Parts: sequence; C-alpha cells; structure tokens
Amino acid sequence: MANPGIRDAATPVVSAFYDRFPFPGDPMQDGPPPGYNWRWCYQSVLAAVHGAVPAGSERPRILDAGCGTGVSTDYLCHLNPGADVLGIDISERALAMARERLQCSGAAAQVSSLRQEQRSLLDLENEGLFDYINSVGVLHHLDQPEAGLRALAGRLAPDGLLHLFLYADAGRWEIHRTQQALTLLDVGTGSEGLRLGRELFETLPESNRLARHHRERWALDCAADSNFADMYLHPQETSYNLERLFTFIATAGLHFAGFSNPEVWDLARLLQGELLERARALPHQQQWLLVEQLDPDISHFEFFLSSAPIATTPLSDEALRAAHGLRQPCLWGEPYPILDRNMQPLQLNDLERQLLISIHDQPDTPLGALAAPAVIRDLAARQLLLLKA
Ligand SMILES: C[S@@+](CC[C@H](N)C(=O)[O-])C[C@H]1O[C@@H](n2cnc3c(N)ncnc32)[C@H](O)[C@@H]1O
Repeated sequence: MANPGIRDAATPVVSAFYDRFPFPGDPMQDGPPPGYNWRWCYQSVLAAVHGAVPAGSERPRILDAGCGTGVSTDYLCHLNPGADVLGIDISERALAMARERLQCSGAAAQVSSLRQEQRSLLDLENEGLFDYINSVGVLHHLDQPEAGLRALAGRLAPDGLLHLFLYADAGRWEIHRTQQALTLLDVGTGSEGLRLGRELFETLPESNRLARHHRERWALDCAADSNFADMYLHPQETSYNLERLFTFIATAGLHFAGFSNPEVWDLARLLQGELLERARALPHQQQWLLVEQLDPDISHFEFFLSSAPIATTPLSDEALRAAHGLRQPCLWGEPYPILDRNMQPLQLNDLERQLLISIHDQPDTPLGALAAPAVIRDLAARQLLLLKA
C-alpha cells in the first residue's frame, strides 16, 4: 500500500491508532445506508448556506477528507447521485473497511465516479478543486491543524463549501479528565487501554461525575470498542472554544458560512422574554459566545466554510413566484413527508403538504402557479422546499 505521505508529525501515530481501532465502528449493511444526513446532501447544504440551490450544481466534485470506515462517504454517494466522489484516509485498515462498506451498499452505481485512496489530506495538490469537502472529526487529530485547514482551503473551488466538525472544549471536560487519568495510569492506546478504560468506569463510584457523565451521555456511542478508544485513548487531539475556532478559521483565509447544527445555536433554546430580546440584539458572533457560555454541554462545533463571504438576500414576492423549487431531498415519507431533515416529526398544514406534493409532481412549474408567496417562503425557511436560483 502507498505511503500516505508523512507531512504531519502525528501521521504515523494516528494512522497506527486507526489501524488498531478503525472509526466509526458502525456495522456494514447491504444496500443504501439507513435514512439520511442532510449535511452530506450537496443540494441541501447549498440551500442551507445560500438560501437557494445555484444552477449548475448537479454534478459536484466531492472530497471526503479523513473518511474513516466510510460511513460518510457512503451517504455522500447515495445522497448525491451523479457526483464525482473521492474518499481518502491515512489508515489502511479504516480504508479497507470503507471500501467493503461501499461495495456492500452499491455506492459506486449511484455516482459518476468513486475513488477511495490511502493518502493524507496534506497530499492532494494534484487533485484539482472540489465543490464540497467534508472533513468530520479529522483536523483536530493533526499535529498542525492549521496546515491541514490550509491544505483543504487550497482544494476548494471558488464557490465551494467545506464542512468541518471539530471538538469543543467545554462539553469534553469529563472526557479530557478521563483521558488524562488513563495517561497517568499508563494504560497505553491499545487493547490494554481499552480493557482498563472500560474497567475504570466500572470501578469509579456510581455517583462519580466522570462515570455518571459517561453513563448518561456517551456509553451508547461507545458501545463499539473503536468508538470507546476514539473517545478515551486517542494519542493526538486538540479541541477549541469559539474564540480559538474563529482564529483558526482565519489562519486559512476562509469565511464562516453557518453552523450545520443551527438548532444548537438558537438562543430560544435557552432564553425567553427580555433576556432573549437582549441576546438577539447582539451581533451574531456574540450571540454564539453567549450560547457557548450558557450551554457547557456543547462538545463539538460543526459548520460550513467558504472561500469568499456569502451574502444572502431574501427574494421578493415576484422573484419567489417566478422561481422553481425542489422538495428537500432529506425528508422521510413519500409523497407525504412526516420527518424533517433532522428526522424530527414534521407539522404541515394542508396547503404546505399540497405544495410539497405539487413540486414533486410538477418540477418544471414556477412556484407562483402552485402556492402563495407566504407559503413558499415559510417552507423554504424551514428547509422543506429548496429554491432553485
Ligand atoms: C475520528 S475519525 C473520523 C472518520 C470519519 N470522518 C467519520 O467522522 O466517520 C478520523 C479519521 O481521520 C483520519 N486522518 C487523520 N489524519 C489524517 C490526514 N492527515 N489525512 C487523511 N486522513 C486523516 C484518521 O485515519 C481517521 O480515520
């Protein structure tokens, strides 16, 4: 197998770790992956970031940088029919599992091209540019995450979008303490570490904060050994707070284009009345700092970045009537959707439901012939209907 290119000091130790514990430990399945994840559907992402799906976005070039065992690459193929997809990872074993996963799911038949290669995201100079780069849970495992971000920025098409997931300090407080305890106990990052790490949670008193937090928040996620190892035994990880995150983004000259879990950053989740009013009067970045302070359970940041700032202007009623629409591809239930893009139960009145069915049945009809602007606007704001620019 090719040498994945040691351009980051952590590469040898990180690739060896994932060879031992390929992540994620999700089982393989025959046929398409279950459900959907709209962050891996390019059209859904475009609509979320730009407010509309620009023309010419039908055959995107997509990179899954640090694809692990291929769960995300699998969705990227099935949710973007006709795309050109490249999945890369430095771990030979993780990549072998990714190949097997996509083989079982029939992913290659969905896309125009699919490549899965063992290489580093620092080593992509000969690859041209990508419309969408997904890199989830990867850059924080580099010795030099800034170099990783610059490398990805260098592969982004001028109108391209980058989706990142990085650890957040606050919600990982208990994880960091557990990691440090296991390091002090010198359990290592292999099978012994796994055995003793699990034993630690059995041994600590039931009321102990670390054990309680693990039980209540993470035990289910850590059922697979590789997921437990990824959380508690990792030899190389960094985490951020919002301030450091925005400094990090600026080092690559990129622009923040929105969280991919905006519900978490909605102040109304935490405040009401006068406090909510005051909070909403703050500039966006301060609103997010406030959420970060008020919710110390936030354990990761997931967000989109772009090469140039993105400005969205709401369409006039006239423009809305003339526009064409697309039913959000990530809805559950055909033709009557019952779950939204986050797989949450959907409340629709008859007019809204009828509009979604009409768009599906008559994709070439301008929206104005199907419903009133207020109904169109509301469904677009709720990301149930995607406007075509
Ligand atoms: C936590 S796993 C995430 C896997 C996948 N993105 C997901 O979320 O399911 C991190 C992956 O990043 C890979 N990785 C770390 N550094 C990398 C690099 N420089 N280039 C490519 N992959 C890398 C690791 O081998 C590992 O498989």
